[in-house]
Amino acid sequence: MGSVQDIEDRYSTGVYAKRGVTIVRGKDCRLWDADGTEYIDCASGMGVASIGHAHPRVAETLAQQAETLITCPELFYNDRRAALLEKLADVTPSGLDRIFLCNSGAEAIEGALKFARASTGRNGVVAATRGYHGRTLGALAATWDPKHREVVRLLPEGYRHVPYDKLAALEEALDDDTAAVLLEVVQGEGGVRPASAEYLQGAQALCRHLGVLLIIDEVQTGFGRTGRFFGCDHYGLEPDILTMAKAMAGGLPMGAFAISDRVGPIARGLHSSTFGGNPLACAVSASVIDILQEQKLPQRAAEMGRYFADGLHALGAPQVRDVRGLGLMIGVELKEKVAPHLRGLMERGVLALAAGATVLRFLPPLTISRDEVDTVLAHVAGVLGVEGVRQS
Ligand SMILES: Cc1ncc(COP(=O)(O)O)c(C=O)c1O
Repeated sequence: MGSVQDIEDRYSTGVYAKRGVTIVRGKDCRLWDADGTEYIDCASGMGVASIGHAHPRVAETLAQQAETLITCPELFYNDRRAALLEKLADVTPSGLDRIFLCNSGAEAIEGALKFARASTGRNGVVAATRGYHGRTLGALAATWDPKHREVVRLLPEGYRHVPYDKLAALEEALDDDTAAVLLEVVQGEGGVRPASAEYLQGAQALCRHLGVLLIIDEVQTGFGRTGRFFGCDHYGLEPDILTMAKAMAGGLPMGAFAISDRVGPIARGLHSSTFGGNPLACAVSASVIDILQEQKLPQRAAEMGRYFADGLHALGAPQVRDVRGLGLMIGVELKEKVAPHLRGLMERGVLALAAGATVLRFLPPLTISRDEVDTVLAHVAGVLGVEGVRQS
């Protein structure tokens, strides 16, 4: 038998560029590789492990629900699903009271786009440059980066991209056939770029005025990441559709989209998913929401995010062009490629992400401590060759 890495390289499709480390265990903000080396996790499984790894309540809920009932399609009612739907209706912005449960971010986007088209009878979708919405065909058509889109010759039609955070460009792009505008409140993969309040609120007003549905993609920003439960909450946004996934079930694959009563009427049979709304994921997601609320993790993300971003600014590294983000969704735009710095951080025991070629992205669990942030800052200082600044 070969090594873990040999086997994965031999039998997986090869679409992922993997880092040469085999992660085998996690606890809160820490991960360990097969050799026992410890890392501070500033990737969170790409923004998933917001409550930290191996949370005991999640483990307990999982075990209990696995012994009770794992699968139950939406042909039938289920207690765990009902409990989660009620909680989701409560935590989402006002008016988003009906929810379709599915299994990933891209699936949530596909469903949102389909509902928007079916509801309006229109075809057009306007998305933003640098927007990222997933890799299935509809989501990919809405994703901006040509390097992702050009590998597929025929994508669904009717998609346009307009410059992000430019209201006049958005207004110009909307016409009688526009079903939906699809936006992130902070572009994640596109370089950690927050939009202005004027843009997001203006986009909402425009959409309402023209009968276009506003879909806000909170797959990355949702569940406390930005310092509020949803990114929309910073701006008082009440979109027509909100998509979510990633942190929603503490690492179990789960996605959802919530719709307002401006979407509809919804025909029976319009959409479905075998695994969507399964009791296991629903039970865990309900626990995750409880943990986020009880431990006030969105507020913590706001505080620790400020501390982290201030610390990055204070490094004063000459290679840094910009530090930006919201809560614990932080991007450091460099004047040079980020890949060697990511490797350097990994060698020093910090796992982080890229957001494009030149942006270093930090998405730690929302439970990260000040000491851990200080350690990460010291290592960032180390890889950038500047002296670390210890914050008080
Ligand atoms: C904003 C946003 N939307 C959609 C997706 C796609 O989610 P998934 O990878 O679960 O399909 C992502 C993934 O990074 C994302 O960041």
